[in-house]
Amino acid sequence: MSLVDDAIRIRVNAHAPYSGFKVGAAIRTPSGRVFTGVNVENAAYPEGTCAEAGAIAAMVAAGETEIAAMAVVGDAPAPVTPCGGCRQKIAEFAPRGVVVTMANLAGDRLEMKIEALLPYAFAKAQMEG
Ligand code: THU
Repeated sequence: MSLVDDAIRIRVNAHAPYSGFKVGAAIRTPSGRVFTGVNVENAAYPEGTCAEAGAIAAMVAAGETEIAAMAVVGDAPAPVTPCGGCRQKIAEFAPRGVVVTMANLAGDRLEMKIEALLPYAFAKAQMEG
């Protein structure tokens, strides 16, 4: 099963009663394990979290800290692209060259490397004198 399939499968569990827009995300790590996440909205709207953040949290909680590949899926006219904040969250764990596959349920796909999704990402190296 592809990472996009994993994201599609988990997406149904999203908690999105406010936007009605369910998103699924899946990460593969170098170990071969797959971690998934969904968006979790809240009645206090700003407290909602994105699917990508959920998948990253699951990966880190399991003791892994490197993204080898990632997929994001929603039911949209075009492939769903991660928000700005999520691009920064992905860049924290995805080395240069990692491909993020964006998809929708119609079968459209868009693949981009992390450095193209977030050029000039802020990173730890910038805080080192
Ligand atoms: N959302 C995600 O979970 N990931 C994205 O890449 C785009 C947006 C969620 C946040 C919110 O729950 C809903 O989609 C509408 O913005």
